[in-house]
Amino acid sequence: MKFQQADRLLKLPIYVFAQLDKIKAEQQAKGADLIDLGMGNPDIPPPQEIIDSLVKSLSNPENHRYPSFEGAPEFKHAVSSWCKRQYGINIDPEHEVVTLIGSKEGVVHFAFAYINPGDITLVPMPAYPAHFRGTILAGGEPYVLPTTERQGWLPDLKIIDPEIAKKAKMMIISYPSNPTGAVSTRAFYEEVVAFCKKYEIILIHDFAYAEIYFEGHKPISMLSIPGAKDICIEYHTTSKTFGMPGWRCGFAVGNRELIESLRKIKTNLDYGLFTAVQKAAIAAMTLDEKDYIDRVRATYQRRRDLFVDGLNSLGWQVKKPQGSLYVWFPVPQGYDSTAFCLKVIEKTGVVITPGIAFGDLGEGYCRAALVAPEERLREAIARLGKAGIRYNG
Ligand SMILES: Cc1ncc(COP(=O)(O)O)c(C=O)c1O
Repeated sequence: MKFQQADRLLKLPIYVFAQLDKIKAEQQAKGADLIDLGMGNPDIPPPQEIIDSLVKSLSNPENHRYPSFEGAPEFKHAVSSWCKRQYGINIDPEHEVVTLIGSKEGVVHFAFAYINPGDITLVPMPAYPAHFRGTILAGGEPYVLPTTERQGWLPDLKIIDPEIAKKAKMMIISYPSNPTGAVSTRAFYEEVVAFCKKYEIILIHDFAYAEIYFEGHKPISMLSIPGAKDICIEYHTTSKTFGMPGWRCGFAVGNRELIESLRKIKTNLDYGLFTAVQKAAIAAMTLDEKDYIDRVRATYQRRRDLFVDGLNSLGWQVKKPQGSLYVWFPVPQGYDSTAFCLKVIEKTGVVITPGIAFGDLGEGYCRAALVAPEERLREAIARLGKAGIRYNG
């Protein structure tokens, strides 16, 4: 019997990470020693304090029951204090926070709260795939805002057709950027907020890499722009900041009505976040080890420097990204991004992601995630060199 998938599934472009997994498995079966820089899957473990908190919570039977849908009051208060301390923004813990089972699910499910078939979401590209897939799954249409290296990977809002802007329902912005590593400016965020207000567009800010920045370029919260809370929902995660990607813990903050709609969707889909994980996240947001995040940043910065310098020694001219955990670099002439990444995996065992995974405008580039220790990154560069893989302009 042939089962007919729903149109919404058929409309999705192929998920390149799933394809990569297959190739990785084939290489591993052949005995290859892979250096996996494919997914942005942090390898720096969370501080012991967070693990201890989880273990302690596990022995309390109350914590094994269904959690509250929207998050425990103490979790929401911890979020509010964290947002004030880290980003200088005021969040009402009662009405302006919702827990998420990782920020990805929150970003994707939000589309189901507002997108009707045919509705438009403005999405800068290249982009984290969930930024356009949520809209597609909900039956809407992503409208691509092109970004280029020359413009610092920020879209030019002035070239958006006013007719499209009038029709658009949502816009998704996310800096520091996955995959480009670009950071934004306050002036750009002011422009984004003014644009969304003018055209009555819901503004989604995915702030997954809020704490992963270098050389003091501390990213700002979209909600720190005056008036942003009238239109904006912002997504945060413990995945990258505290090395907890497998724990699936995130939260959204911002406009009360938008938060309420996301809650409504989620009450129909899930039962909220495991209470023991919420308690551990509170421990994370109130860590005694004050310099943990500084250490994480310093580690990623050393990796970034080593990897970018290594690529540049092989003919590339890559600038050091100012945030996120990624190095985004052009593929040599004669390849598209998929062919290049396949060649790199086959010849060197180094796994990187083809830029096409981040939308058509990612073609011509590839992405390395800095999720391996320095000695493995050094080894990755040495393998590329040995295999004669160089940039040829
Ligand atoms: C921009 C962006 N948002 C969200 C996520 C997902 O984070 P989470 O683990 O909180 O679902 C990622 C993961 O790579 C990301 O790059």
